[in-house]
Amino acid sequence: MQTVWLHSLSAVSRRGKLFLFATVTTAVIAATIAGVNLASSGLPSPLDNAIPVISLLDKNPYAEYYYYEADKQERYEAYQNAHAELSADEVVWQVNAGLDREFYTEIMPVIDPSVLPVIVNKYHQLSADYVPADLVKLPSGKLATRDTCQAYQQMAADARKAGLSLYAASAYRSYDLQNRLYNGYVKQEHGDTARVDTYSARPGHSEHQTGRAIDLCGSYGSLNDFVNTPEGPWVKENCYRYGFIVRYQEDIVPLTGYKYEPWHITYVGKDVAQTMHEKNINCLEEYVVKYIDHQPLADV
Ligand code: DAL
Ligand code: ZN
Repeated sequence: MQTVWLHSLSAVSRRGKLFLFATVTTAVIAATIAGVNLASSGLPSPLDNAIPVISLLDKNPYAEYYYYEADKQERYEAYQNAHAELSADEVVWQVNAGLDREFYTEIMPVIDPSVLPVIVNKYHQLSADYVPADLVKLPSGKLATRDTCQAYQQMAADARKAGLSLYAASAYRSYDLQNRLYNGYVKQEHGDTARVDTYSARPGHSEHQTGRAIDLCGSYGSLNDFVNTPEGPWVKENCYRYGFIVRYQEDIVPLTGYKYEPWHITYVGKDVAQTMHEKNINCLEEYVVKYIDHQPLADV
C-alpha cells in the first residue's frame, strides 16, 4: 500500500503533500464539528480515497528533486543499494541518465548530432555514416565543426597572449578511423577489450565523430604530458569561457567509463559551459538531466 502510494504520488511536491494533508485533516475536523458522521452518511469519507496518513509522514528521498521520474523509483532504489555512498541527488540524475546500466548495453542512436549539447557515450551511438556537415580546418590542419573551430581559435589566441601554446593533435575522426584505432588498440592489448574500453571509444561511440571534440597538446607536445604543462591547468580553468568542457574528468571515471583525459575538450556552447561552471557540474550527462530533460522551477 505504502509503495503504491509512493509511486502514484511521486509527482506531487512535498509542499503539495503537506497541502493535501492539511486539506484532508481540515475537512475531517470540520465534518466532525458539524456533527456529520462520515461513516454513516452514505458519502465516501474524504479518507477513503486518500493517502494513508502515515505515508504523508514518510519521505521518499528521490522525489525531492525536480528531475525525479516516478517510473524509475525501483531503479533508484536498486542503484542506491549498489552504491550506498551516493546521495539521493546523485542516484536520481545518474539513473535518469541511464548510468545504472552496464556499459554498451541498451544502446540508443544519437537522434540529431547537430543540436548542442550532444551526448555520445557508451549508451548513445552515432550512425556509421554520420559526418558533420560543416567541417573546417583547425590551425593544425585537423578538422572540426565551424563553431568548434571558431571557439578554439579564440581560446588559442587568448592562451597565446598568456604565453601559452595549444596544439590540436586530434579532432574530427570518422567512424572508420575510430574503428581502426579501437581495433588497433585491442590487438596491441592482446584482445583485452575491457582495458581498451577505459581509454578508447568503440566506433560510433566517440565524441570525435561529432567534430566537436579536440585532443590538446601543450608545450611538451604530448597528450599524456598535457596536464603537466602550464597549458593543462589553464585549459581546465578557462575553457568554459569559450564553450568547452573537459569531458573525462578525474572524479567521474566510473560514470564516463574512461580514465582521466585532461587533454580531451568538447565544444558544448558557451551557455552550457557557463552553467556547468557556475553550478559546479563536471559531467555532461548531469547537465542534460537537470537543464534539458527537466528544468529547475525558477527557470521555467
Ligand atoms: N579517447 C576517447 C574516449 C575516444 O576514443 O573518443
Ligand atoms: Zn579525445
